Amino acid sequence: MEQRRAAITAIGHFLPEERLTNADLEKLVDTSDEWIRTRTGIRERRILRDPDKATSYMASKAAKELLQKRNLDPSEIDLVIVATVTPDMFFPATACIVAAEIGAVNAWAYDISAACSGFLFALSTGTRFIESGKHEKVLVIGADKMSTIVDYSDRTTCVLFGDGAACALLEPDSSGHGIMDSIEHSDGSQWSSLCMLGGGSLNPSSPVTLEKKWHYLHQEGQPVFKAAVKGMADVAADLVERNGLTGDDIRYLVPHQANLRIIDATARRMGITMEKVMLNIERYGNTTAATIPLCLADWESELRRGDNIVLAAFGGGFTWGASWLRWAYDGTSAA
Ligand code: UT7
Repeated sequence: MEQRRAAITAIGHFLPEERLTNADLEKLVDTSDEWIRTRTGIRERRILRDPDKATSYMASKAAKELLQKRNLDPSEIDLVIVATVTPDMFFPATACIVAAEIGAVNAWAYDISAACSGFLFALSTGTRFIESGKHEKVLVIGADKMSTIVDYSDRTTCVLFGDGAACALLEPDSSGHGIMDSIEHSDGSQWSSLCMLGGGSLNPSSPVTLEKKWHYLHQEGQPVFKAAVKGMADVAADLVERNGLTGDDIRYLVPHQANLRIIDATARRMGITMEKVMLNIERYGNTTAATIPLCLADWESELRRGDNIVLAAFGGGFTWGASWLRWAYDGTSAA
């Protein structure tokens, strides 16, 4: 009998309907469709305009889709983890609000803050609870309403981000499928390259933080780009090498969707062609913690039991990592 592993057994997702195109952004800031497409690969992103609907709304929608697909009673869920940098509020955790909204009355719930690596870190955390035998069903959600922390007068960041949510159910597997291995890293020495300065205990909200625009995301594009190219490519290559895999063994690379050029470098480093790379940055932009599960949602119907999938991410912190999964089910028939 194979060891007890955690396998993804269902996926759910939610995207707001409103599209913010490059042409729309040309009206807001000094940019062009050509610049955005060639430098990032993005054509449009989704925006949750309704000010009364926050990250928990999108996360709950994604979770409800998953529950419905699996015809699953929410009271069976043991743990809800939400990865986000745009929680509804500092506390309580957005995961608590989501668990209540979906009826996961027997679950405990908490958030993970690891920016663009949030889903990967949450997946690794959830995996441990399944592997240890403590839990049978863990819901891992990546959700961000980035439009609430983006300054739409700053052309260097406003073209990059979008809103969205997606989730995965983790259950035990003893047939050699599921999350096989993962590597996680963080390095806080360059935290200020990608951050939101205001509102925390360092710079509590005040007229000064408002005036300085410290409640918006701040990114120094070039240093983050350089670190992301190296970090994401290295960690994905390390993971496949230490498991004796080659590019030929991998069915799909599922990279965090921040910049097409970073993704391209990662794929080349791993020796895989772009046909094997899940890409939806063109349609959704960078949805932070949601990019990887949104890709899985888009490609779910094509995935087959036994497919080798590598997830890889890099983000604020810095945080970065990669996971190797042997996919556990065919297509969308997860029931
Ligand atoms: O998801 C978490 C991790 N985040 C990332 O991985 C993002 C990493 N960084 C990047 O993807 C890229 O650095 C950006 C897409 C953010 C920027 O691309 P870049 O090729 O690094 O551009 P740059 O920052 O070097 O700027 C080049 C020029 C500058 O003008 P000058 O100084 O050369 O005159 C910018 O002011 O492009 C200008 N620029 C723009 N021009 C038109 C910056 N943003 C824009 C824009 N439209 N939206």
